[in-house]
Amino acid sequence: MEKYGVNQLREMFLSFFETKGHLRLPSFSLIPQNDASLLLINSGMAPMKPYFKGEQEPPRHRVCTCQKCIRTGDIENIGKTARHGTYFEMLGNFSFGDYFKHEAIAWSWEFLTSPEWVGLEADRLYPSVYESDDEAWNIWHDEIGIPAEKIFRFGKEDNFWEHGSGPCGPCSEIYYDRGEKYGCGKPTCGVGCDCDRFMEVWNNVFTQFESDGHHNYTELKQKNIDTGMGLERLAVVVQNVDTVFDIDTMKAIRDKICEIAGVEYETDADKDVSIRLITDHIRSVTFMTSDGIIPSNEGRGYVLRRLLRRAARHGRLLGIEGLFLAKLAKTVIDESKDGYPELAEKEEYILKVITTEEEKFNKTIDQGLAILADMEDELVKSGSKTLSGENVFKLYDTYGFPVDLTTEILEEKGFSVDEEGFKKAMEVQKQTARNA
Ligand code: GLY
Repeated sequence: MEKYGVNQLREMFLSFFETKGHLRLPSFSLIPQNDASLLLINSGMAPMKPYFKGEQEPPRHRVCTCQKCIRTGDIENIGKTARHGTYFEMLGNFSFGDYFKHEAIAWSWEFLTSPEWVGLEADRLYPSVYESDDEAWNIWHDEIGIPAEKIFRFGKEDNFWEHGSGPCGPCSEIYYDRGEKYGCGKPTCGVGCDCDRFMEVWNNVFTQFESDGHHNYTELKQKNIDTGMGLERLAVVVQNVDTVFDIDTMKAIRDKICEIAGVEYETDADKDVSIRLITDHIRSVTFMTSDGIIPSNEGRGYVLRRLLRRAARHGRLLGIEGLFLAKLAKTVIDESKDGYPELAEKEEYILKVITTEEEKFNKTIDQGLAILADMEDELVKSGSKTLSGENVFKLYDTYGFPVDLTTEILEEKGFSVDEEGFKKAMEVQKQTARNA
């Protein structure tokens, strides 16, 4: 198997599905259109819900994309583990009432195993199906020729895909065995284990239901296919590296951080957390900015502000003084502009927005961190474990510390914040402003 780069893999996937009659579409914006259920696009299928539901005519009934996605659900773990991230790219081939299980399964196998395409060793791949999906099981067994003992049946937790409300359905995943060295060593370790050995690379969702978000399902007018394949995960397998932070495009960012900070990766566990966190966050920040989101105290703008300021703080932890985020954003742009021409087109704008926000925060971050350290001392002295809402508000209002950032910094040291008190202080301020 060749060691394809991320940009090559993206292109390979899209051109493979073009040979199967799909229309290649550019990634949709990270800002959902006409979808109040989402703050940010979080999967390849999300911008195409009306096509799945048959409410809107798609440009073609077979489409493929590489979609920019952001998920912030695991934000606390980012940097701490080697596998969590907020930003990722999702490869997808979609059928809107066109082909269904037979073709979707056959093509996923062909793309992953054919030497003309990715050429993974078939012996290392294990499909799974939804527990009662005999049809998918039979396709894997009878048509693709996978021995029965290598096909797994899993329940709703693993093999039924849904994200909030909207189109959903049972799915068939493909796991790649990365070898014993990535295993947890438990006697129960096997396909479906939580550890890093069996990595899910492909998810074929047989989208045939609509969920109201409360586990009530209705049959859709048509049967659809929705593939979700994380490009970064595929690259981990193909490039045979330990984590997503080691694949070519991410490593370039990681290296740039190390160069700016004058540190080396994998020499100090705490520093590694900061390096990984900044590597991840700067990607989200760059792509969100390119889609026209600007830092603010609400909604998407708040997510952007939080990620950017978090990255800035971790820069401080690495000993970086002064502005550095735009330099990293430039690396993100250079690494990804092949797949996302809008990055190059808007480069100047992106760097300006990031610089302005970082400058704003830089003016107060050192002072804010010093004040917060004093507040921590006070807590220790008073024997309290919780920072008052008023103090959290002061850090927010005067020093630009998003409340989540204050919470995180304190939690690292075993303290918490009075969130209710903070909300009250916010209300008082809003009321005062209204009265004025
Ligand atoms: N929409 C399929 C997935 O995210 O896996």
